[in-house]
Amino acid sequence: MPLRSEPTRWSTVAKTFHWLMALLILGNGAFAFYMDGLKPSLNKINMFALHKSIGLTVLALFVLRLAWKMLDRRPPDEPAPRWQQLAAHVVHGFLYLLIVAIPLSGWAFNSAHGFPLQYFKQFNLPALVEKNEELSNTLGTVHVYLFWLLLLVLVAHVGGALKHHFIDRDDTLRRMLPFGRAKRNTPTPPGDTP
Ligand code: HEM
Ligand code: HEM
Repeated sequence: MPLRSEPTRWSTVAKTFHWLMALLILGNGAFAFYMDGLKPSLNKINMFALHKSIGLTVLALFVLRLAWKMLDRRPPDEPAPRWQQLAAHVVHGFLYLLIVAIPLSGWAFNSAHGFPLQYFKQFNLPALVEKNEELSNTLGTVHVYLFWLLLLVLVAHVGGALKHHFIDRDDTLRRMLPFGRAKRNTPTPPGDTP
C-alpha cells in the first residue's frame, strides 16, 4: 500500500482523499436539495445541522489534502496534446477552489442569516460575518450557484477522465480508481504515444 504516489500510480492516501471528498461533496449537495423540499420540522433542522457538519468536514479534509499534496509527488501526465494537459490542470485548480468556496460560502451564509453553527453537536464555531439579511440572501444564492458551477466543471473533469480511458486507452483513470492499477509499469516518456 504505497503512502506516496509513484510515477505510475496515485498513492492510497491521495486516492482516499479524492474519492472520499468526491462522495461527501456530491452526497452533501444531493442531501441539501432533498432537505430543502421537506416541510419545516425538528427533523429538518437536524438534517441541516448534519449538512453543515459534513460541509465543515470537507473544509477540514481540504486543508489536510493540501498539506499532503505538498509532501507527495504527482504521477506525470499521460501523453496528450499540451493544451489538453494544461486544460486538465486548470480544471483541477478550479475544482480545488470550489471545494473551499462552497463550504465557506455556506458558512458565511449561515452567519449572515444569524443561524448558530455546531460541529456534530460537539462544539460551536464562530460566525464569519455579522447578521445581515441582504447579505444572507446573496450568500445563499452564491452557495447554491457555486454547487451548480461545480457540476458544470465536473462534466469537463469526468469527460476528460472517460476520454483518457475509452479513447486514448491510457492509465489516467485506472491509476486513480480505488483498486485500479496502471497497465504499464513505467510511465511513457513525454512526447511518446501510448
Ligand atoms: C460540501 C459542502 C457543501 C455542499 C456541496 C453544499 C451544497 C448545498 C446546496 C446544493 C444547497 C441548496 C439546497 C437548495 O436550495 O435546495 C445548500 C443549502 C444550504 N447550505 Fe450547503 N453545502 C455545503 C456546505 C455547507 C456548509 C459548510 C454550510 C454551513 C456551515 C452550509 C449551509 C447551508 C444552508 C444553511 C443551506 C440552506 C440555504 C437556503 O435555505 O437557502 N452548507 N447547500
Ligand atoms: C466532486 C467530485 C470531484 C472532485 C472535487 C474532483 C477533484 C479532483 C482534483 C482536484 C484532482 C487533481 C488531483 C491533484 O492533482 O492533486 C482530481 C484528479 C482526478 N480525478 Fe477527480 N474529482 C471529482 C470526481 C471525479 C470523478 C467522478 C472521476 C471519474 C470519473 C474523477 C477522476 C479523476 C482522475 C482520473 C484524476 C487524476 C487525473 C490525473 O492523473 O491527471 N474525479 N480530481
